[in-house]
Amino acid sequence: MDFARQVKGSVDIVDTIGEFVRLKKQGSQRFVGLCPFHTEKTPSFSVHAGLQIYKCFGCGQSGDVFNFLMELQGLTFYEALQTLADRQGIPMPRGNAGSDADSMLRDTLLRMHETAQAFFQERLPANVGARAREYLRSRGLSKETAAQFGIGYAPGGNALLGLLRKKGFREEALEASGLVGKAEDRPDFYDRFRERLTFPIHNETGRVIAFGGRAMQAERQPKYLNSPETAIYKKNAVLYNLGRARAAMRQENRVVLVEGYMDVIGVCKAGVANAVATCGTALTPQQVRALRRHVDTVTVNFDSDEAGRNAAERSIEMLLREGVNVRVLELPDGKDPDDFCAAHGGEEYKKRLEHAPRHFIWLTDRTRLRFDTATSEGRVAAFEHMLPTINLLPDDIRRAAAASELADRLGVARSLVLERLRRSGDRRGPASPAGSDSDGFSAAERLLLHLFAGSAEARGALLGDALALATENGMAGREALAAMAAVHEDGGEFQYSAVEGRLAERDRDRLAKLVFDKDRALASLDEGKEALEALRRQNRQRRYRAVRNAIAEAEQSGDRAAALELLRDKIDLERKLGMSAAAGR
Ligand code: UTP
Ligand code: MN
Repeated sequence: MDFARQVKGSVDIVDTIGEFVRLKKQGSQRFVGLCPFHTEKTPSFSVHAGLQIYKCFGCGQSGDVFNFLMELQGLTFYEALQTLADRQGIPMPRGNAGSDADSMLRDTLLRMHETAQAFFQERLPANVGARAREYLRSRGLSKETAAQFGIGYAPGGNALLGLLRKKGFREEALEASGLVGKAEDRPDFYDRFRERLTFPIHNETGRVIAFGGRAMQAERQPKYLNSPETAIYKKNAVLYNLGRARAAMRQENRVVLVEGYMDVIGVCKAGVANAVATCGTALTPQQVRALRRHVDTVTVNFDSDEAGRNAAERSIEMLLREGVNVRVLELPDGKDPDDFCAAHGGEEYKKRLEHAPRHFIWLTDRTRLRFDTATSEGRVAAFEHMLPTINLLPDDIRRAAAASELADRLGVARSLVLERLRRSGDRRGPASPAGSDSDGFSAAERLLLHLFAGSAEARGALLGDALALATENGMAGREALAAMAAVHEDGGEFQYSAVEGRLAERDRDRLAKLVFDKDRALASLDEGKEALEALRRQNRQRRYRAVRNAIAEAEQSGDRAAALELLRDKIDLERKLGMSAAAGR
């Protein structure tokens, strides 16, 4: 059996996608969730357990488990295959012909990062790591915590470079890895991370793709030296700790967004496992969508300085635009989360987290400081300043509730606030409604198409006949049936994605809509037979009408021989349709 099929057969698409997207069961075989590929507020992303495919009715993305990983993580087919094979513990045949230059490079970079991670981690307990261990101690990080986060130590010199060369990694790979650098006036590479504590950064599937390196002296700049962007590290898409935090995020349906590596680690030590951070960049829509796949609520907990507050404000807007519920935790005395937990303990931190206000309360309090709310002009100005943020809320009810609360907090009349809100919100378009089901298929066709997609037995017994009838009849489902028949005849496992591959967009869409219809249960073979019989009847009736018209025409034109011939057909059809001779005319 071909290797890709073997791997695909060993995974369940619902489990795999379910790790990245929260799915709800809807119908016996269908699961739905918010689409990871576009911004939406109501779920139109479906996964079909029986067919092992996914489809988004909002943006049209669809495919099998490989396509999903390829799209979500920007992988090639080969990499998606490898990811799944690794997870299933199926050894990958070496020298796979399917690997292209891009995936080979990325694979090389991942292996280099594995080497580097092991190297850094081994240095920490070694002699050379004494100062790093002392530093960790001084920051209250135990051996266990260091191990949990994979913290290591990069010594001075070029030992990593030497190791990578010894392992056979070539110059192009060294250059592309970001693990080493090259000065313009020097011919050779040098180790990028030197005398720094190393924080590995993982992708969501848990592989090391980059490092943050912390200096251990206060005066050394930069404080953190980070990996550059590489073929495996896209800063905009990555969140520190997402892979580890995922389970706790799901469980609590929320996440704490902090600014730094040390904050994540600090709050984790305090017992808050659902924390992530960006890696020193502003929050991006891609990162928000990654959070959104796992939680509905994000608590923003940045440093309590002006820079942190401004970054929080920008992040709030980004989160609201993607339909996330936002809360804001601002800690007292300019403390960052790590400091706070160290000073006041995990219980106190958790308590504050629990009571973090909704975003607009925090924003209102912040706005109040900027305007002179002693005057009514100032209060109205403050309110208008807040209006765009309220308008980012996903529905009328929440907007109105937020506006009333805001009015109370600012001391503005509620009626005024609601009136302004109404006017400013008028330009908002309604969310796109679910598509109608005028797909052009007859009821019998619908039943059969749905049945063929889900039952090998029905395909074997009825598909050939159905296709013949559909073709003869010029029915709406003939293309879909022809595609199914072609895939069926190819033998092997019936792949719905292969059916889709054979169809033009319109046919693909209406078939998918039908196949994923949550209210439709898979019919039995007998019901399939009845539907086929109904199609036969429809076909005869159509021919009967055609013959009758032809007879009328032949009679009118005086062609008695043709009319006679047609009459014979008509009688034959009447018999098959079970009509009495008298009912014929
Ligand atoms: P912070 O300066 O708040 O660092 O920067 P921190 O995480 O709290 O670490 P400690 O407690 O001071 O050791 C927040 C984040 O900004 C990025 C890092 O991702 C850091 O975690 N940063 C900061 C850099 O990338 N480079 C820098 O020089 C400083
Ligand atoms: Mn900090």
